[in-house]
Parts: sequence; C-alpha cells; structure tokens
Amino acid sequence: QILILDFGSQYTQLIARRIRELNVFCEIHPFTHAPDLTEDIRGVVLSGSPCSVRDPEAPNPDLSKYLGKVPVLGVCYGAQLLAHQAGGEVLPATIREYGRARLSDLRDENPLMHGISLNSQVWMSHGDTIKTLPNNYHVIASTPEVRVAAFQIDNQPTYGIQFHPEVTHSTQGKLLLANFVVNICRCAQDWTPEHFVDGAVAALQQTIGPDDQVILGLSGGVDSSVAALLLHRAIGPRLHGIFVNNGLLRKEEFESVLHSYQGLGLNVTGVDASEEFYAALRGLTDPEHKRKAIGRTFIEVFDREAHKVEGAKWLAQGTIYPDVIESVSVKGPAVTIKSHHNVGGLPERMHLKVVEPLRMLFKDEVREVGDTLGLPHNILHRHPFPGPGLGIRILGDITPEKVRLLQEADAIFIDALHRTGLYDKVWQAGTILLPIQSVGVMGDERTYEQVVALRAVTSVDGMTADWAHLPYEFLADVSNRIINQVRGINRVVYDISSKPPATIEWE
Ligand code: XMP
Repeated sequence: QILILDFGSQYTQLIARRIRELNVFCEIHPFTHAPDLTEDIRGVVLSGSPCSVRDPEAPNPDLSKYLGKVPVLGVCYGAQLLAHQAGGEVLPATIREYGRARLSDLRDENPLMHGISLNSQVWMSHGDTIKTLPNNYHVIASTPEVRVAAFQIDNQPTYGIQFHPEVTHSTQGKLLLANFVVNICRCAQDWTPEHFVDGAVAALQQTIGPDDQVILGLSGGVDSSVAALLLHRAIGPRLHGIFVNNGLLRKEEFESVLHSYQGLGLNVTGVDASEEFYAALRGLTDPEHKRKAIGRTFIEVFDREAHKVEGAKWLAQGTIYPDVIESVSVKGPAVTIKSHHNVGGLPERMHLKVVEPLRMLFKDEVREVGDTLGLPHNILHRHPFPGPGLGIRILGDITPEKVRLLQEADAIFIDALHRTGLYDKVWQAGTILLPIQSVGVMGDERTYEQVVALRAVTSVDGMTADWAHLPYEFLADVSNRIINQVRGINRVVYDISSKPPATIEWE
C-alpha cells in the first residue's frame, strides 16, 4: 500500500481517491502520527499544506525513516519540504502561481514523467516557490514560470512536484500518479471491490468469535446496508439487524426497506416505535431539542431490542473513511452547526465492542462493494436521508397528522423525480412542511391551509451544495399534484438557496 502523510491540504483526500482509482490501496495519516515503515508500505506521498516551510511553526517532521528506503513523492508543500530540509532555497513566489500552467520542459526518460507530453496542462496552487535545489537534486520538469516544477534526488526514487496531479485540471495527473505507484513503487493493482470483500469477510471471521452475536442498527441507507451484507456473508444469522421505525420515515419506507432486507436473507427485526418518538417530541419546537429527543429515544428503543439478543458481544457500525479521517485530521474539530451524530455513547452503555467493516472505504467504494454484494439499486442509489428524518423537515412542533401530510407531499415529489429520470441527477431531495398557513381559492371556496417547500440540491459530499435547476414544467406538475391530491396543502414553493450560506435541511 501507499502511505499518504497529510500536512493539512484541502486536496489530501483527492490524492487518496486518485490512487484508489488505480486499484491501489492507500491510507492517510496526519504528519503528527507518521507511522514507521513496515513491509506493506511500498511508497510514501507527502501532501500539500496551507503552511509555508519558511514559517518556523510549519510542519517539519523527520522523514529519514522513509527517504532512500522506499520511493517518496512530495506534492507542493511536500516537495518544498524535501528541498528545504536538504538545504534548498524556498522563497515567496514573485509572480502568481495559481491555476493552469503547461509543462514546457520535460525529462521524459525519467520514470515519473514517462508518457507525459510536452505542454501537458498542470494545476498550480502555491504561494512559495523552490528557487534553488540542493546539490544532489535535479530538475525533471519546468513550466515557463516555474523552473522547478518537478525534481528528483540523484540516484534515489525520491521526487517532488510543485503542481497538483490529484485535481482533474492536471490532465495527465493520473498517469503521473500511476507512474509513481505502479511503476516506481511496484504496487499491485488489486484493490478491487471483490478483493475488498474477500479480505473483509476473512478479517471479520477472524475478529468475531465463533459464538459471538453482532448487533447492527439498519437505517435503509447505503452504509448500514452494505455493512450488514458484509457481516451476513461473514457470520450469517449471527448478525442481528435492528431497523427502527421512528415514525419520521418517508411514506411506506419502513415496510418496503424491511421487505428488501428480508429478500436479501438478512436476519433483521423491524421495530415500530413511532408512538414512543411522537410522545418524546410532543410540544418540542427547537431543532436541537428535537434532534436530542429523537436521538435519546432511538438509544432507548435500540438498547431494549439489543438486550433481547443473547450473547451479543459486538456493535457493528457503518462508519466510512471520511468520518475516520475527520476524527484524526490535522485540522482541529470543526464548529458544530448542527449536531448530526445521532447515536453517541451506545457501545459504552451496552458494554459492546465496536466493529466497523467499512472504515477504510470512501462513499463510492461503499457503493461498488454493495453492488458486488447484490444490494438492490433502490437502496444502492438512495439519496441521503437524515437520521431525525421528517422530524427536522416539519418546522416547529411535530404531530402524527403533520407527518402524514408531509409524507403524502414528499411521496409525490420523489415519485415524480423517479418517473422523469431526475432522481439520479440530484444529490438529495425532500419536502419541508412550513409552520405557516396561507389563503387560497379552490373552486368557489376560500382555503386557509399549509405551505410545503420543495428542496433539491446537487452536491458531491453535502459539504457544499447548489439548488438543483429542475425544469419549470416538472415543478409545475409536482405543485399541481400536491395541491390537488394532498388535502391541507394549498401552496408549494421551491427553495433556491445554495449551501453556504443556507444549509440543505431547514433545521
Ligand atoms: P445540512 O443541513 O447540514 O445537511 O446542510 C448536510 C447533510 O446532512 C444531513 N443531515 C443530517 N443527517 N442527522 C443526520 O444523520 C442529522 O441530524 C442531520 N442534519 C442534516 C442532511 O440531510 C444532508 O444530507
């Protein structure tokens, strides 16, 4: 595998994505916890950073445990660090070195540059530049503005590049990374979903004792469903899935998802606890209070169900790699805007050990593994749905009647997205019940009813999002259907706010 040492660049995860796309396994570690070299580590990538090597406070770890022992590739800050530590001169760039540039000079006999064409476009993003290289370093590529765009240490597979091969604007970036990980580091390209499944199943069988029972909370989402299928393959019915209906799911979702799980042969218990959740939510209007009440009730219900499983030793969770990286990141914890994590503290309370079979996978890898394991399309490509469900899409207090009203309107919207083929083009969609009434006219009668807002966004990871530019005819049709078919709603609006400054959910 490849070790990526993270110095805090916004692009570090992208380096990992690109290397994994080459079917080579890699892991990100913060530079503050640089692991020692083991036999599995075939090469090291040093990431970029918002810092400057000239700043005495900047990251400056001892790299001697890697240099000369395995191939090393420094990217941007990583390259500057390699030059700086060996006595090279790194200075503030005098001209702007941000954006597209073209390689104007190239040592194409160099293994890192193999197959890269002259004039190849690369993406630059740096405030410092390498002015002079240490004696035993030589330049292997330049651009008209940047003489040291890439270098190698003489007679040693240690390289530095000033540009970012991981962003798609570097058109041959992936080829350069392939040159490094496949040709120079000699990594096997065997990180495939099938390979992952075999390895994960074997590891689970080894970790989980022959009589141990494992509990997993299922939500109908991709991650928990794929985790369930992997565990099912490893330990069969000793996996006990618990799927709680909190009364805040989409229309008929509980029944249909439970049916899918049972069709896959999973050992799953469906628990309808809607009334308990409604009781806990009664009278609450503040979004964070509602989230806490829902989270607390979930733990109570789950705990009760889990205690019915004799010999339970493990709690499985669908944690994925971005969550893992986030929790060990070079950057400090982000400010809490909304408390997204719904079930803290469960394993401690239940004295269970935690098993997280997906903790090394990115979201799209989870989908590929799910596909390999036969997860049906409707679960595999389902939009994200928040744990507190419709509870945070009904603004103000929650009653069973409001839930039913919103479920009806939401079902019309989602169904229309499916029928027109737009569902897979948006990242997430849903309907929000607003806490206001407005006047309308139906036939000869005056109405005074509720308003729903439609929300649909495009996004890559939910961190930023744009409102989806759905066709007017589509919106007109959905609005018509909702107002005609859902009694109690006489007005539909469309949310045209992006994130930031808005958020995807309204609460
Ligand atoms: P926001 O509203 O923060 O949402 O832009 C970003 C993504 O997170 C989901 N979301 C939640 N998920 N519990 C969850 O499990 C929550 O409390 C929660 N709040 C928001 C939201 O649906 C979107 O996908």
